[in-house]
Amino acid sequence: MNSRRQFLAASASALMTSHAMGANPKAYPYTEFEQRIARKDFRGMTKDVLPTPCMVVDIDLFEKNLRTMASYAKSAPIQLRPHVKVHKSVDIAKRQMALGAIGITAATIAESELMSNAGIKGVLWTKQPASANNLLRAIALTRKDPTFMFVVDDHAVASNVEEAAAAAKVKARVAVSVYAGLTRQGIANGKPALELTQKVASSPHISFEGFMAYSGYASHTKGWTERRKKTQEDLAGVNETVALCKQAGLPVKIVSGGSTGTYNMDHEFGLTELECGSYVFMDSLYKHVGGKTNDEIYTDFDSSLSIITTVDSKHHSGQVTTDYGNKAMAQTTDIVKGKDWLQVDKQGAEYGLLRWKDGGNEIKVGDRVEIYCSNLDMSTNSYDRYYIAKGNDIVDVWPIMGRSGAAQR
Ligand SMILES: Cc1ncc(COP(=O)(O)O)c(C=O)c1O
Repeated sequence: MNSRRQFLAASASALMTSHAMGANPKAYPYTEFEQRIARKDFRGMTKDVLPTPCMVVDIDLFEKNLRTMASYAKSAPIQLRPHVKVHKSVDIAKRQMALGAIGITAATIAESELMSNAGIKGVLWTKQPASANNLLRAIALTRKDPTFMFVVDDHAVASNVEEAAAAAKVKARVAVSVYAGLTRQGIANGKPALELTQKVASSPHISFEGFMAYSGYASHTKGWTERRKKTQEDLAGVNETVALCKQAGLPVKIVSGGSTGTYNMDHEFGLTELECGSYVFMDSLYKHVGGKTNDEIYTDFDSSLSIITTVDSKHHSGQVTTDYGNKAMAQTTDIVKGKDWLQVDKQGAEYGLLRWKDGGNEIKVGDRVEIYCSNLDMSTNSYDRYYIAKGNDIVDVWPIMGRSGAAQR
């Protein structure tokens, strides 16, 4: 039999035997595969049968990351309100809560609604409701879930919040967003922050909770000592603001901020809670910020998320085409798991590229390669589910929710 006929015969026999799965995991026809996912029947399902490109979470490494952060927070001591923008998964947020998180942090009103509607208390939305749409939604969520909290860094927005909260007869929980080295948001520390805080704290339909101060440049500063220096510098102004407010008799309940890169220094510089996100999966760029014990590679958290891609074509020396293309968020800074001679490159919407100088004979059409992505937020936003793997076995599937799209804005 020629190879095409062999392939067709194998596919036909796979279809016929698919309902008696277990023996040959490659024999899933796609319709049955989806039905099995829907009823969470993962018997005999392995990474080898997954449609690619797809996201896979190594459950052991993932749980280790969660435990490491949770136990650090308990011992530091500092509270943990993990950022969900990186995973957009209710399943993961619930696991973070079960390990002691006081709530979750969200980047969009849609993420906040998603998490709160799933029963998660203590959601902090880190953007102010500048549009009428977001203001209405923030107030509606406050009415439904009084533990929901959001930020303001602007007098006009604070006035709008007071007015909308008064009209809805609710008390909105608000933290003032203050500058912490990142120019994208946060009112200037000192007098401007004090004045906004006084306005917020004296608004009858607002409950002033404290401050949000995210020092995003510090997070990615290379080398632990340099990072600690930058964190101290970036949070110095925030601490002045906190002191001024306390002197003025304004109770500051929280100072929220921090990141995966700075989690083990933030409590020294005045933060009362951490908004770390990436630690659950770790991306390939973050791995290079260096840690306390290793200035080159950040080993505190493991890369628990990978993307599986299939080699689709091989005709030219030093390269193969994969299905990990631009729509799958391929980046040249991605890392190929266990094959450091392969370099990720871009080729087209649905076409990815792997290049090499030596060792290319080892890779052939149909091979599967695992990739660590460079930017978790962007990548997870492009996939609809995590396949949860224990070794090579699939043990669960968690949806990735609240992704970009009209309903999410
Ligand atoms: C407001 C806010 N807090 C915290 C973080 C920290 O996240 P990570 O732990 O992924 O660095 C981010 C990341 O972008 C953020 O935007």
